[in-house]
Parts: sequence; C-alpha cells; structure tokens
Amino acid sequence: MHTSLQKSSLPSGVTIEPRRMDFQAVTNKPRYWHPVAAFTHILTAASLFFPEGERFFVRSVQNYEHDISDPQLRKDMAGFMQQEVIHGEEHERFNYDIADQGYPYLYGIERFLVKGVFANIRRFTSRQVQLALTVCLEHVTATLAGALLKYPQLMDDAEPQYREIWNWHAVEESEHKAVAYDVYDAVGGSYWIRVTTLVLSSLFFLGLVLFVTGRMLHTDAKLFNREMVRETKEYVSERMWIFKNVGKDFIQFFKRDFHPWQIDNRDDIEAWKKQQVAYAEQHQG
Ligand SMILES: [Fe+2]
Ligand SMILES: [Fe+2]
Repeated sequence: MHTSLQKSSLPSGVTIEPRRMDFQAVTNKPRYWHPVAAFTHILTAASLFFPEGERFFVRSVQNYEHDISDPQLRKDMAGFMQQEVIHGEEHERFNYDIADQGYPYLYGIERFLVKGVFANIRRFTSRQVQLALTVCLEHVTATLAGALLKYPQLMDDAEPQYREIWNWHAVEESEHKAVAYDVYDAVGGSYWIRVTTLVLSSLFFLGLVLFVTGRMLHTDAKLFNREMVRETKEYVSERMWIFKNVGKDFIQFFKRDFHPWQIDNRDDIEAWKKQQVAYAEQHQG
C-alpha cells in the first residue's frame, strides 16, 4: 500500500540521468517514418505538444522548489527538469523536420494553438492544478513510454533514427515518471483533483492530437481514405493485446494508493542502456 512518503520514491538501480544525444538529421527520409500513416501522424501530433508541454511541466515542478526538503527528492526534481529541457530541444528539431516534409502549418499550430493552450492553463489555474496536470500528463507519457520499451513491435519497421529518439525519450520518461507525483504527494495534493484532471486532460489533449492528425492526413489526401482505414485497422487488430495491456496500466491511476513505480519497468530501462553500451563499443572498435 502506498502512503505519502514526503520524499523520493526512486527505486534502487534507477538514476535520473539527462543525456545529450545530438541526433543527426535524417537524410533519405521515408514518406512515413512509421509504416502506418495514421500512427506516424498521431506520434508527430503528440510530439508537437512536447516542447511547450515539457516547459510547462518544468515550471509547475519548479513552483514547489521551496516546499520540498528531502535532499533526494530535490535531486530528482533537478534531474527531471534537466531531462525535460533536453527532450523539448530534440522534439522541437524532430517537429520542424516533419513540418518541412510538406506540413508547414505545423509551425503555426505550435506557435498559436499549443503555446496558447499552455499559456492559458498557466494564467487561469492554481499551482496545485498545474502540478496535478503535470502528474497526469506524466502518467500519460510514462504509460506510452513504458509501452514503447516493452513492446518494440509497436515500432517495427520505423525509420531507425526517429525510433531512437522515441526510445531515448521513453527511457528518460520512465526514469523520472514518479518525480512530479512524489512532489504532489509530498505537498498533500488531492486524490480527487488528480483523477478529475486526468479525465479532463486526457480527453482534451486526445482531441487536440486527433485534430492535428486529421489535418495531416487531409494533406496526404488520406483522411477517411479506405486504404488508410484498412491499414490502421489491421495494425491495431494485430496488436490488440498490447493496447489492452496499455489500457490496464493507464487506469491504475484511478486507484487511491496508485504510485507510478507500481508499474516496474526497470528491466526495460536496463535493456536500453545495455544496447547503448554495445552500440558505442561496436562503433569505437
Ligand atoms: Fe520528456
Ligand atoms: Fe516527463
């Protein structure tokens, strides 16, 4: 049973390590970086919200800097903020890279819609609600991140460099998945605000992501196109068991005694780290 710790819950073996990856620009870009058009655009649309969203997360945790005394939790907060800043930079590059492949309006959507949404949330909500929103969106990203690491078949045949960006981000999202939660917990954040915010924010952001996805499919003349629907259905039905598991992880959040590390994916983080070491050794030698 999880009770308020007022301190860091970082499990043994996990460090919140900000990594500068400096992904190189992808030359030879495929038409769709993921083999399924709708899935490509859903991920790109989500990514469009990352840089501004991550800046929002950083600020909402920073707002509580003076309320936290546990030295390890303070260290986690610093690691969390450093990681999110780097994620924002990499995804900004990723987003512009995709925008330049025939979706120039993504710049405008980012500048006005995405920035407008977060600016208004900051303006009209309390710091507790902003932190609750961060806890919720971190749960959404941690669930997706956990899925990408646990089920590599979600990214089968995706462009390798882009897949790497998503995997690296997924690892760091997993490492810091409990930081905002622990801060919320330590300052006595309410259960009802947390779960209400999850329902409202996931519906709201899902709507926005689907809107952007639809806009991009429209550009490709694939919106409601029979071939696109068939390909998406096939992809989803082959992986239905994965989506069911992901859904189960997602709804854990509604438990009163939920804690992000109850979904323990340390092995998947370790596997990625080992892969990185092996890759580095191979390219040195
Ligand atoms: Fe992130
Ligand atoms: Fe995050």
